[in-house]
Amino acid sequence: MGGAVTWHYGLVAKWWAEFNDEFRPHEIPFFQRYIEHGGEPALDVACGTGRLLIPYLRAGLDVDGSDVSADMVALCREKATRQGLSPTLFVQPMHELDPPRRYKTIFVCGAFGLGSTREQDVQSLRRFHEHLEPDGTLLIDLEVPYADGELWRQWLKDERARLPEPSGRPRSLRPASDGSELGLHTRIVELDPLTQRVTYEMHAEQWRNGVLEAEEDRLLNIGLYFRNELLLLLEQTGFGDVIVQGDHNDAEATRDDDFIVFIAQKR
Ligand SMILES: C[S@@+](CC[C@H](N)C(=O)[O-])C[C@H]1O[C@@H](n2cnc3c(N)ncnc32)[C@H](O)[C@@H]1O
Repeated sequence: MGGAVTWHYGLVAKWWAEFNDEFRPHEIPFFQRYIEHGGEPALDVACGTGRLLIPYLRAGLDVDGSDVSADMVALCREKATRQGLSPTLFVQPMHELDPPRRYKTIFVCGAFGLGSTREQDVQSLRRFHEHLEPDGTLLIDLEVPYADGELWRQWLKDERARLPEPSGRPRSLRPASDGSELGLHTRIVELDPLTQRVTYEMHAEQWRNGVLEAEEDRLLNIGLYFRNELLLLLEQTGFGDVIVQGDHNDAEATRDDDFIVFIAQKR
């Protein structure tokens, strides 16, 4: 099984499980409405530690989850079990997605292009198509490459010449539920505008009573996509009637949206 260059393991996975439930809350009701309105069963691709999946299960919806990281999946399962839920979860990179059933809705939140190559991303779209029911819907969101000014500057040759950014330590620590404190520091290592790929490195630290207990360095590759490219890829992999909306807001996407959502029908 081919993995993915993603940093969602070990201390980074722990950080996600501890702190990321509060991240971008408006995304949860957005996808939920598609599932509730005739969109079951659904698959949460790259479900992470269940930020979306667990509220959907609590609402009684038939939703499975998959993720490349066994650490994220284990933490998702722990969290679900604590709430009396027993989700069906798969550890699979999205380009090797192979669940035993088909879905009316497949959604990918904050993860398309992560850890994979462009060829694998096309393969992922083919897998989504294959695992949707004939009238199924695919929802994918993207942070557009020009959303983050610091990253966007690195597309320029003079800026890129300064990469990799220097390594660093977390600026602050956050208290975790087991009495430890966690901190992260992220830096850009490389950006290739030709292949539209960026590599970040995360330095994670865990402290307890003023003593450094553990530290880890992990890499994340991200394939950067513009709207028109993903539209072409969706068309190429068998999707039609694609609409592109703004930041999980039901409105047509505009140039000012940092996140855009693709809603595509299986043809
Ligand atoms: C930013 S988190 C998003 C998690 C969740 N969708 C959410 O919105 O809270 C990205 C997730 O994608 C997973 N991931 C990264 N690359 C992947 C890949 N190629 N295939 C499947 N999962 C991947 C990571 O393990 C991580 O759990």
